[in-house]
Amino acid sequence: MTDAPYLQPGRIGKLSLKNRLVRAATSETMATASGEATDRLVKLYADIAAGGAGLMITGHMFVEPRGQYEPMQTAIHSDAAIAGLKRVTDAVHARGGVIFAELSHAGSQSVLPEIEAIAPSLIPNAIYAREPKAMSGADVDAVVAAFGAAARRAMAAGFDGIHIHGANGYLVSAFNSPHANRRTDGWGGDAERRSRFIVSVYQVIRAAVGPDVPVTARVGMVDTVEGGLTLEESVDRVHHLESLGLDAVEVQLGVMGTYLRSVVPYVGVTKRRALADGLLHRLTADKVPEAYFRPYAQALKARVKIPVILVGGVRSTEVMTDVLQSGDADFLAMARPFVREPDLPAKLAAGRRGLVDCVSCNICLKHEGRDPLQCWRTSASAMAYHVYCRFWRDRRGAVTK
Ligand SMILES: Cc1cc2nc3c(=O)[nH]c(=O)nc-3n(C[C@H](O)[C@H](O)[C@H](O)COP(=O)(O)O)c2cc1C
Repeated sequence: MTDAPYLQPGRIGKLSLKNRLVRAATSETMATASGEATDRLVKLYADIAAGGAGLMITGHMFVEPRGQYEPMQTAIHSDAAIAGLKRVTDAVHARGGVIFAELSHAGSQSVLPEIEAIAPSLIPNAIYAREPKAMSGADVDAVVAAFGAAARRAMAAGFDGIHIHGANGYLVSAFNSPHANRRTDGWGGDAERRSRFIVSVYQVIRAAVGPDVPVTARVGMVDTVEGGLTLEESVDRVHHLESLGLDAVEVQLGVMGTYLRSVVPYVGVTKRRALADGLLHRLTADKVPEAYFRPYAQALKARVKIPVILVGGVRSTEVMTDVLQSGDADFLAMARPFVREPDLPAKLAAGRRGLVDCVSCNICLKHEGRDPLQCWRTSASAMAYHVYCRFWRDRRGAVTK
């Protein structure tokens, strides 16, 4: 037995979890062209489940065709998705794992030119400058209903809970944002009406899954664009969602001008690690602080009672211990570290301490939407292929990140 706080059991809603380590949503680029699960996707989640994570959250799955973000993203917009996703959850459950489905709509942030991107208002996307179509009232109703239908499918496919993607510039966070949402009807105009979309999405999902299944949300706490969402407004919003029955909240950014603010490079890398991993350009750089969204978690813990999940640069057992012991968060989510080490929790349970192996080089992120998720630093051949992609293949087409 260990007394490491991140290895202690926890609860989200009525669900018991064996430890506080959460595999954060990480888009896999492992579906077929039409969005169905593949053997590779099943293996990815089987491996993470076998590695001992207390909870796994899937990469964002799109709830309607207009909500697809990138090629080879997993779909949950039609009943045809259920059988493949059931293979994923069966593999996870056979290894003692727990898995939530992350439901999302890309809104104006879709990188697919062939779809009509929609958004609350005609405001160009903050990252890609893409001009969306402003949603009609009927569009809003249809998308809310699509979240409900997707939640029903997730239940049919055997998921243990639902995680709403309400962050990172995607559609739900665009409705929360005074920058992206300039509507003056019932869906925008003040903080309460900006909340109506995420509240409606939550309610339609709750109705689909019933009272006992955990429904959680990733919420963008602030926008990093001018005229954007404030922390105060977000804390109020989460407090309201808690009163309606939301079971846990994960903190992230809302609308942002670059993914690098949410997926910060080289977090926690010491000079020693830089040397060991051949990151010569980091030898003279300052150490990027870990757990960079901790202030948002603290702000929520002061106001809400539901579990708070901290994501973003959690990299060492010292920081994991400190965050949990200080009561700043209840769960620790990691994305990039699980790409490198799917069995990280098992290693920690076996006594491993210190920094995780991931150096947050973000090469995995650069390949999103093009190549299946992997850590490119683990073999010379993968690294060589990455260099070919960067300097030849990807120069010849649009790069997503
Ligand atoms: C390759 C990649 C794909 C990601 N895909 C998703 C996603 O599908 N949904 C989501 O909510 N966040 C996604 N994220 C963001 C992560 O969940 C996480 O918030 C971010 O990487 C910071 O955490 P970390 O420092 O532990 O990596 C992705 C990040 C990476 C690197």
